[in-house]
Amino acid sequence: MFEESVFSGVQPTGNLHLGNYLGAITKFVALQNDYKCIYCIVDLHAITVWQDPDELRTNTREVAAAFIASGIDPEKNIIFNQSQVSAHAELAWIFNCVARMGWLNRMTQFKEKAGKHRENASVGLFAYPNLMAADILAYRATHVPVGDDQKQHLELSRDIAQKFNTDYENSIKAAGYENGFFPLPEPLITGPATRVMSLRDGKKKMSKSETSDMTRINLTDDAELIAKKVRKAKTDPEPLPSEVAGLKERPEADNLIGIFAALKNSSKEDVLKDFGGSQFSAFKGELVDLTVSKLEPITTEIRKLGSDPAHLDQILNAGAERAKDIANPILDDVKRIVGFVG
Ligand code: TYM
Repeated sequence: MFEESVFSGVQPTGNLHLGNYLGAITKFVALQNDYKCIYCIVDLHAITVWQDPDELRTNTREVAAAFIASGIDPEKNIIFNQSQVSAHAELAWIFNCVARMGWLNRMTQFKEKAGKHRENASVGLFAYPNLMAADILAYRATHVPVGDDQKQHLELSRDIAQKFNTDYENSIKAAGYENGFFPLPEPLITGPATRVMSLRDGKKKMSKSETSDMTRINLTDDAELIAKKVRKAKTDPEPLPSEVAGLKERPEADNLIGIFAALKNSSKEDVLKDFGGSQFSAFKGELVDLTVSKLEPITTEIRKLGSDPAHLDQILNAGAERAKDIANPILDDVKRIVGFVG
């Protein structure tokens, strides 16, 4: 009914980490073989909390470099930064008028990010999920690879698509669409590392905003720093179990095994077949080697690409043009459906 395509986004807010890499970017790489893929650096989302303008520029290019260094082909797929394609902001406004306050009030990420300072949070931070729905639906994308933390936002995107299709049903039919205008986008949340946890607390998500850098492995960390962080990662006193059921109530062990499995493109079961009964010290040594062997070539390539910002800008500009070619006709239809003259 809808042509299958993939859309996903990453915020250029600094410190891309192993969670972003395993939860999202490796999936982006894998999907490019089977789908038409659009990967967006969401700078409009980034400014929902304060960003230093120079750092925002640097971080935008760094995410572009990380995409390419990880293996996303910018010719085959579309890579661009969100602010270059105004359809995102325009559709987001329309969705601000479709989504309900009650829906957004339930978003746990807003509650976490705004914390006790809700009154002082930007309006953009509250409306953030509407822009995310617009990102996806501006391309009528059907599949969205994300980490587990974005699941609730994806459900909201589906609710918005559904309500738009229902509210404007007659107008959508009159425009020649028999089965609704927007697809209900499906989240792709798969594999052993959909929620990579902090190295210092297995109950907390690995995050860019965590103050201590020892809680995460950044894509720009060198081998020595990776080794230090893994060696100091929190564990428990028991040896590793032989079966996945034995990871229950052991969040730190579960997290490290999940990371190992994802890096190895294998499963927790298989990793435990090799390491069941081992002490953490032996396992951590192997984890360091594996992490370094996977990340080192990417880090080197990110640095190389980063030394030529003009080349990255060219890639983003070319991607934005291709993105506009898809999004603008869709936005034109939306405007007609809503009843805007022009
Ligand atoms: P962002 O920039 O916070 O994260 C980018 C991607 O990384 C995933 N991720 C994780 N996965 C596993 N473990 C973790 N600890 C971890 N931390 C982050 C996120 O789930 C995400 O897939 N709102 C989005 C960006 C966005 C978007 C979109 C995504 C904007 N528009 C449209 C999909 C479709 C965000 O803040 O991701």
